Amino acid sequence: MTARSILVYHPDAGEAEAYARLIKQPRPLFDVHACATPAAAELYVAHAEILYGWDFPRELLREATRLRWVQNMGAGVERFLVPELPKRVALTRVAGVFGPWMAEYVLGWCLWFTQRTELFRAQQRERRWSQADPLRLFGGTLCVVGLGDIGRTIARSARAFGMRVLGVTQSGRKVAEAARVYRVRDLKTALAAADFVVLTVPLTETTRGLIGAAELAAMKPSAWLVNVARGAIVDEAALLESLWGNRLGGAVLDVFAEEPLPSGHPLWEFENVVITPHISGPSTPGEIAPLFNDNLRRYLARRPLRFLVDRKRGY
Ligand code: GLV
Repeated sequence: MTARSILVYHPDAGEAEAYARLIKQPRPLFDVHACATPAAAELYVAHAEILYGWDFPRELLREATRLRWVQNMGAGVERFLVPELPKRVALTRVAGVFGPWMAEYVLGWCLWFTQRTELFRAQQRERRWSQADPLRLFGGTLCVVGLGDIGRTIARSARAFGMRVLGVTQSGRKVAEAARVYRVRDLKTALAAADFVVLTVPLTETTRGLIGAAELAAMKPSAWLVNVARGAIVDEAALLESLWGNRLGGAVLDVFAEEPLPSGHPLWEFENVVITPHISGPSTPGEIAPLFNDNLRRYLARRPLRFLVDRKRGY
């Protein structure tokens, strides 16, 4: 092998092929290798200059001695924030595409609750006509923890329903999408005011365990927690305690400390817990390819890459 090479890695072989097919090289400079298993990736990793990947096996990073740039296929890059990835390697993430997916997920499940979907569908199955007022999002308060592009898109959608939106960020800097933004040190004050709390922060050393027993206790006993970020941001044991003690309205969880969620996990059992298998912001080759191709052009022209990760910050 003499040519420069791009290693495309996705644990689903069809997806890996699709990502590889959509790579547009301005000049035919690179061999492109699509791999779906660690064994296949091992054949190419030592030669790869660019890694375009998802769920890449951490241990193989040690062998990637020629690597110059990693384009993560998703938003969260915590799997690449490891000592095995040398500092000289540029790391970029995906931004600007997941907001609409995740806003529909979040608002959809909020409406699932307020529209009493389960109740009316159960009544329908029994052919029973029995009125009960729905609840309303209008006038309710949504607290978005993390106001990156995903958090702000969710905030805009919630406002379209007439919700009051509060935000929580490191800086507390005001944004147009939220009525008020709290600093993370005032997290509990923001949580206490909310009917729905949505987590959209990246997993970093500062956000790991951010929502623990004290934060859950600060929430209204009727409030719902929606986690579309990473499981480890919530202390799962504390969440279980709150749910068992009926101290929380419920939870919509797309992410978990351990994925897939083990079949014996107690979270499966709650009527007021919705479990989805990490699908709220899907990466699709068609949406990610333009971003990769743009960055590839920049890389070749030695121009700054878009969505470069600050390793210290963690996103
Ligand atoms: C999905 O979880 C992502 O990080 O894009």
